[in-house]
Amino acid sequence: MKTVRDAEVTGKKILLRVDYNVPLDQSGAIADDNRIVETIPTIEWLLRHNVEQIIILTHFARPQGKVNEAMRLSPVVARLSEVLKRKKLISGGRVISKSFEEKSPVLNRRYYVGRSITVLENLRFDSGEEENSVSFAKKLACCGDIYVNDAFATSHRSHASLVAITKLLPSFAGLLLADELKHLTPVLKEQEKPFVAVIGGAKIKDKIPIINLLRKKADTVILGGKTANDYYAVLTEPVEKVVFPTDGVDEQGRIVKFTQDIVKKTPPMDIGPDTIVRYKTILKQAKTVFWNGTLGVAENKKFCHGSYEIARFIANLRATTIASGGDTARILDKLNIKERYSFVSTGGGAASEFLIGRSLPGLIALEENAGIKPENVARSTCQ
Ligand code: 3PG
Repeated sequence: MKTVRDAEVTGKKILLRVDYNVPLDQSGAIADDNRIVETIPTIEWLLRHNVEQIIILTHFARPQGKVNEAMRLSPVVARLSEVLKRKKLISGGRVISKSFEEKSPVLNRRYYVGRSITVLENLRFDSGEEENSVSFAKKLACCGDIYVNDAFATSHRSHASLVAITKLLPSFAGLLLADELKHLTPVLKEQEKPFVAVIGGAKIKDKIPIINLLRKKADTVILGGKTANDYYAVLTEPVEKVVFPTDGVDEQGRIVKFTQDIVKKTPPMDIGPDTIVRYKTILKQAKTVFWNGTLGVAENKKFCHGSYEIARFIANLRATTIASGGDTARILDKLNIKERYSFVSTGGGAASEFLIGRSLPGLIALEENAGIKPENVARSTCQ
């Protein structure tokens, strides 16, 4: 796959697709800025190569094709600006947000960060993004000369800023995306056994098919968090290789049994002590571990115990250990054990889908269109 290092970027406007869909804490503040920090090497590289401008594209949360004031990018851009200042890539000034007369809500508000970095508004405010609309992709493409995908974490979505756009501009992988592939590809090809997958978090609709495919590769798939609750609530018979909690912690902090009645009526907020012991016994044997998603409501300190215990235990294993997703990475940062994992991926769903061997549309599009001279966007259609 061609990376940004293969591109002639000097003097060009670069459309840089990132995934700044960062986790928030209970007060709505950014709980972990890992996904922002991890894109800095690409931004730095582009600035060092004297690009004219970096136009950053990202989605945030799930506004479903409509403007949602609570999902504007202002806090995310403010954090980006802080990180860039800390790294001395920009100095002084503050983020300026400007409005334009444009048909798409994504283009009619832009944030200016430093001299040559602009961020467009949340891509998902325009329904064209999730519809992989060519006309929306054209509007984006009109803003730049070269497209760079550094959003591994969203590359499992077939969206306009990841797929349709690659047919309109010369397209390259960013440094973060290339690094994700470098670390995850060997694990996709071969996993030393026993291979144990730990799946938690929410997004159950995405996760059930992933668990079913993971079962084919892994020796055991252990579950926690909302995934375990929601899956158990609809379970009619045991699923081979899938292990559910035996106990949990309820809202009042009491240890409860993990039964269908309980998960339906008062779903546990964390895994319980018996489950922790059982999960450690399984993990102890593992030679490869893949972990995605917290095992309880870990952003609340009353319910983070199970996730923290398992996070520390995995960190001490003599095994290839991969953690993935914003919430999981946040725990490792908090416990200061990130360096003890073999690799921490910014992609939650994307890393899971990659490791079960699914083709990620964003990566396929990059591969198919890399090096091909795209039919140029008719500049007359650009404003
Ligand atoms: C993620 O956090 O996994 C990515 O940003 C994709 O978000 P989505 O599940 O809302 O598409």
